[in-house]
Amino acid sequence: MTSYLAYINANYLPLGYEELYAALEAERIDYRTTYVANQIVIFTSNKSPVKAASRCAFLHSLCILIAKGSIENQEIDFFEEKRIDLPIEKCKTFCVRVKKIGKRTVKLNKAELERILGSYVISEFADYEMKVDLKRPECMFLGLLHKSDILIGFQLWSKNVKEYNERTPGNRPFFRPGAMKADFARAIVNLSRISTGEVFYDPFCGAGGFLIEASILGAYVLGSDLNSSAVKGTDINLHFLGEGHYSLLHGDSRHIPLKHVHAIATDPPYSIQSSTYGKTISGLIEQFLEESKSILEQNRHLVFSSPSYSEPERIAEKVGYKMKTIIDARVHRSLTRRIVVLM
Ligand SMILES: C[S@@+](CC[C@H](N)C(=O)[O-])C[C@H]1O[C@@H](n2cnc3c(N)ncnc32)[C@H](O)[C@@H]1O
Repeated sequence: MTSYLAYINANYLPLGYEELYAALEAERIDYRTTYVANQIVIFTSNKSPVKAASRCAFLHSLCILIAKGSIENQEIDFFEEKRIDLPIEKCKTFCVRVKKIGKRTVKLNKAELERILGSYVISEFADYEMKVDLKRPECMFLGLLHKSDILIGFQLWSKNVKEYNERTPGNRPFFRPGAMKADFARAIVNLSRISTGEVFYDPFCGAGGFLIEASILGAYVLGSDLNSSAVKGTDINLHFLGEGHYSLLHGDSRHIPLKHVHAIATDPPYSIQSSTYGKTISGLIEQFLEESKSILEQNRHLVFSSPSYSEPERIAEKVGYKMKTIIDARVHRSLTRRIVVLM
């Protein structure tokens, strides 16, 4: 068993934790969490979780946990058994990055902490004769400091923020107000546990944000919307981003002409930026949930978001879904998105 250290984005908790668990499930990684708090998840697994981590939007980095200790007491214990798992032979150069979590950490600044941890790494791995390279290191060690406690990981993967920025709704050829940011859309798609080669469906596809993310994950994507220009625009966006395996329908999510899908993730209209076409939010959600029941494969997931005041969890229970997770994500003072994961 290897212990992994996942470092989650502070702005999206607890969504970031749930996204990681869902991605691990989607990639069929058996895991056991041993610590979850303060943007950190420590878990053990027999199988590499790198592919699962790399699909997460709200994960900063994934490491093998190699040491822990206290900066104030100058005690850092490297775990002997972790050496077996480290792909460290290829590292001629390395660097240490420290992230301070929370406010009440030790007074030393990050550069000082990085120097201290760097000398620990050099002496611990003296037989590898690694040199420090701050610009283009072949390997990266990450120190996560919370108060005086430090966790040190050997980094296996880190998020490429640029990739998500490139897919920001405003950069796509077809834009509609109300489109979710690419990272948020990816996190919701991840909650649906869609895997490569499976069929993913978004019944309120808008400009296609969720379909783009599911398609990048290797799913065959199906989308529909009551607005025909949204359907055409989604086609343009998917084509522009080179996402090939998809089908689109112009239609009502309350009458879906499909038979079987492996996962559904969607963002129904809130009647703020996108229209419900005269229906109440709760009425529309209830009918779309009823309709989706017959097309979603057994034991699979349906994820949708709605303003918290519409109490989407009550509607889902009324329709007879099993509630897996409820996550609130604040958008601004008067809007909190409630994301519900159903089975
Ligand atoms: C919040 S937007 C979806 C945004 C989308 N997630 C994106 O990233 O662009 C909701 C969409 O639901 C569509 N819609 C409203 N009522 C519908 C219905 N009964 N059936 C299907 N689509 C509907 C609207 O036309 C709108 O495009």
